[in-house]
Amino acid sequence: MKIIKTKNYSELSIKTAEIVIGQIHSNPNSTLVLPTGNTPLGMFSQLSIAFKKNIVSFNNCFLIELDDYWQIPMNDNRNLYNWLDKSFIQNVNFKLENITRFNTSAINSDNECHRVEKNIKKMGGIDLVVFGVGPNGHLGFNEPGSKLNSKTRIIDLSPESITSSANYWGSEENVPQQGITLGLSSLLAAKKIILLVNGKHKAQIYKQAIHGPITPLIPASYLQQHKHLTVIVDQDAYGE
Ligand code: GLP
Repeated sequence: MKIIKTKNYSELSIKTAEIVIGQIHSNPNSTLVLPTGNTPLGMFSQLSIAFKKNIVSFNNCFLIELDDYWQIPMNDNRNLYNWLDKSFIQNVNFKLENITRFNTSAINSDNECHRVEKNIKKMGGIDLVVFGVGPNGHLGFNEPGSKLNSKTRIIDLSPESITSSANYWGSEENVPQQGITLGLSSLLAAKKIILLVNGKHKAQIYKQAIHGPITPLIPASYLQQHKHLTVIVDQDAYGE
């Protein structure tokens, strides 16, 4: 595991974008999984700027959605793909046919999860995942208790996730109760993983996930076992 400690969020975002760009330069056909939430917004701005300056192109990359809410309309503003689209996809040049998006209003959940798993296989697995982390240690929507061999599935959101997501949507009542998430088995099989942790509110979970015991109660702690994990953490979160 490599830990990169940055002074602040801006430096974290720049460093992360540099690594993502390096990945695409070394393999322009990279399959990427990128998170939503507030953590990656700075990285997305940096990547969008780099694209405008012709430093990087996403034209031959593949993108797989990490997680979303379940049983909400595709055009709902809470739909996490729409978040990713507004903050990143529409600023750059992915081919739409290279993007795997969850159908969050699919009628048959098994078929939908199976379709996404099949797409990951078709692409030969994932090259790079960038994760944020939930305050309870969730990865995507792999909530506490998720198993290492878990597949893409529908999951009940934990009370902690509902509380933290209320910041995005105004109140807990507006937060959907269920999510759809890539499973830990595909995610941890990725060739490279970056975990981003920033802010004082993540100091406790940073310590537990990266320096504590590996436990299903903190899914992010599984990352300690990954051979190519880079943790990028700002001073507020590492707390020195
Ligand atoms: C959200 C998303 C995760 C994200 C995490 C952290 O609910 N489902 O993919 O990484 O929680 O969010 P934030 O970056 O806003 O702290």
